[in-house]
Amino acid sequence: MSQQRDHWSSNAGLVLAATGSAIGLGNLWKFPFITWENNGGAFVLVYLICIAAVGLPIMLAELLIGRRSQKSAVGALKEAVTSKWPGGRKLGALVGGWGVLAGFILLSYYTVIAGWSLYYFTQTVGWTLGGYPADMSAGDLFNSQALNTGLQLLLSLGFSLGTIAVVYFGVSKGIERIARIFLPILFGILLLMLVSALGMSGAGEALNHIFRPNFAELERGAILEALGHSFFTLSLGMGAMITYGSYISRKHSVVKASGAIVALDTLIALVATVVMFSVIFSVAGMRDEVGGSTVGMLFISLPQLFYSEVPFGVVLGPLFYVLVALAALTSTISLLEVVSAYLIDERRLTRHKATISAGAAIFAFTTLAVLSIPGLLGVEGGGLLSTMSVPFFGGGKVGWFANADHFVSNWMLPTGGFFITLAAGWFMTREATRGELEDGTQPRWFHYGAWRFFIRFVAPIAVAAIIIAVVFGVDFS
Ligand code: PFF
Repeated sequence: MSQQRDHWSSNAGLVLAATGSAIGLGNLWKFPFITWENNGGAFVLVYLICIAAVGLPIMLAELLIGRRSQKSAVGALKEAVTSKWPGGRKLGALVGGWGVLAGFILLSYYTVIAGWSLYYFTQTVGWTLGGYPADMSAGDLFNSQALNTGLQLLLSLGFSLGTIAVVYFGVSKGIERIARIFLPILFGILLLMLVSALGMSGAGEALNHIFRPNFAELERGAILEALGHSFFTLSLGMGAMITYGSYISRKHSVVKASGAIVALDTLIALVATVVMFSVIFSVAGMRDEVGGSTVGMLFISLPQLFYSEVPFGVVLGPLFYVLVALAALTSTISLLEVVSAYLIDERRLTRHKATISAGAAIFAFTTLAVLSIPGLLGVEGGGLLSTMSVPFFGGGKVGWFANADHFVSNWMLPTGGFFITLAAGWFMTREATRGELEDGTQPRWFHYGAWRFFIRFVAPIAVAAIIIAVVFGVDFS
């Protein structure tokens, strides 16, 4: 007998859980950095357009595919494809499986970076209580923790166990409950940080840099980078939102939820960027130091600034790393849920068995990511795993970590996303998609014809452009 499917208890529960999936390291770690690299203003505007023209339509598509079938990625895509083309089961299953695999791989290395936030949380608590050590090099501290394999395994194991524990309790009692508690805390911490950052001397310049477009600074590759990032940040292209959509009951609106999730994710990315840039612009010489890497901004430059520049930094420092950890956790939960839901729906495992076995299998690959950190940091002679190179995928990327990130961000999410646009726009009938989106629960601003146009033409063409760019060697990881 099949078990009764668990559902979100309310629209707010769905929005918080899905927003929790969307808000993560992509918002706090990747977005500020790529905005920095692409000189702000014009890039941010292009990003907003990509989110509205491609991200939002695909978010609607994924949630509606999930809600209609009440099945996770594989089953849902099978149904979507066969609604017009009865022979398309295999193709649907293949694309769903591709998404499950993407979730598996992404979680295996995402956990490692999430673990760094736990480390910096404990460090900042220590500095708040005992003072920031005057003679310490922030770069050396970062490297010594990252290259300490035992510590890295411990941190990522802690994070994996936390993730497994939540998913183990299911949709309403685990995932939704945690999102209801953590997301308001996350918003609160970020608001405090924003208030503090806006009081700093560099705030004006930061706002200018982020919100005043200068198209002369925009490079062609930036458009594709913005588009690629909109997939990652909204958790699209791998069935996470299909899976979350499959727990939406008939009473709740896919359209309202999509609008709220996309708006909140974008808002948080922008606020995080304002906070970080305000701090950076307030310190002479910091601009040149920050340039090097994503890791540099979040884990090397910022920690020390909390103790020298940021108003109330002694309190905000530890809170900031709690924020990063919470944001990462609500994302890792959704990644594990994609894999677990597949095992539950398609392989008939119980939730408890599915969660534990998926979590354990993924952790085996997390150890590969940990062992390949030396290669990621450019340390010579870091052992076999840190020098593993897959020329086709990465062309010179070293280690599981870098190759996995490259493969997921460049190949898996865009190809998965491309197919999802086809499934919703071309394989499903007009009546089927309309029935999900215009079911009386939709808000007044929604226009079905506009969505259909975007999902049939604009989104697939834009995503195809990413794929073509990747084939010709552009790198979005
Ligand atoms: N959206 C997450 C972030 O911005 O960090 C990453 C992510 C989570 C991607 C879950 C995909 C996913 F299914």
